Amino acid sequence: MRTVVSGAAGFIGSHLCDRLLAERHTVVGLDNFITGNPLNIAHLKGHPRFEFLQQDITGPLAISGAVDFVLNLASLASPRDYLEHPIETLDVGSSGTRRMLDLALSKGARFLLTSTSECYGDPLVHPQVETYWGNVNPVGLRSCYDESKRFAEALTMAYHRTHGLRTNIARIFNTYGPRMKLDDGRVVPAFLDQALRGQPMTVFGDGSQTRSFCYVADMVEGLYRLMQSEERYPVNLGNPCEMTILEFARRIRQMTGSRSEIVFQPLPEDDPKQRRPDIAKAHAVLNWQPGVSLDEGLRATVEYFRGLHATVA
Ligand SMILES: NC(=O)c1ccc[n+]([C@@H]2O[C@H](COP(=O)([O-])OP(=O)(O)OC[C@H]3O[C@@H](n4cnc5c(N)ncnc54)[C@H](O)[C@@H]3O)[C@@H](O)[C@H]2O)c1
Repeated sequence: MRTVVSGAAGFIGSHLCDRLLAERHTVVGLDNFITGNPLNIAHLKGHPRFEFLQQDITGPLAISGAVDFVLNLASLASPRDYLEHPIETLDVGSSGTRRMLDLALSKGARFLLTSTSECYGDPLVHPQVETYWGNVNPVGLRSCYDESKRFAEALTMAYHRTHGLRTNIARIFNTYGPRMKLDDGRVVPAFLDQALRGQPMTVFGDGSQTRSFCYVADMVEGLYRLMQSEERYPVNLGNPCEMTILEFARRIRQMTGSRSEIVFQPLPEDDPKQRRPDIAKAHAVLNWQPGVSLDEGLRATVEYFRGLHATVA
């Protein structure tokens, strides 16, 4: 199998490349490094079945040879990144996704889109089930991300319906683990960074908003199963174990042995109040559910972040 992965130097993309290589795929990784890190794929340099092309997927793609799978992970993905690059975010979700769909079509390959729980916006249905259409502010600050992913989903379905392309759509919920960027503003690296430095841990609002966190190895397993399935409609992938942000901050403080105080700041615009995936469909269709406990996942992540701190110090 020969598989093209966009966003290969990103957090999830680099772990997915590792998994595909372990499954004997030949992998062509694409990334323009707008948020990705060359170090995430440095260990793959010289691998006989890994090729990397520094490439912006919104531009023309020149991939020669046969391709069996096209996995489209490229996107600005953290609030800090997409608020800083709103136009690039809309571009990668629209023209970037179109380029990747055209690549799959021209090669007779299968296509997978990594969409997001942000498609549900600030949800009025809880937990979020795939048939819920969402509550998204189309002109709010976060709309560049939410609407780019909603458009990407619509485009993917249009290619499937018009051209019979074999497509899959994963709606990913908060995922964490090694290789996340220290400074991308997402809650796991933000709390870990602050806790490990002994700096105040910033909780937005009163911390009663909820999130659920999926360890990256579980996410990669879900994506690997989904790319082989015949399910065309979106499938939620995430961990349904829900907790408040305040509880989560306390858990991280305890795990890192930090003495950081917890401080509160105003909630950002359109911040969802609750988030938990209903994963019944993933269980039924993919026989998938997360297996890594929060403590286990956090231990591996803390170890990684401690290593980063040691390198930076
Ligand atoms: N991590 C999560 O919790 C989460 C949640 C929901 C959805 N997702 C989705 O999963 C995918 C991977 O997310 P991640 O957490 O690994 O993010 P990430 O930022 O670590 O990785 C995304 C990668 O895409 C690359 N990229 C962006 N625009 C590009 C372009 N125009 N051309 C080529 N490369 C480009 C970036 O450089 C980066 O390496 C994204 O599509 C994201 O929207 C992630």
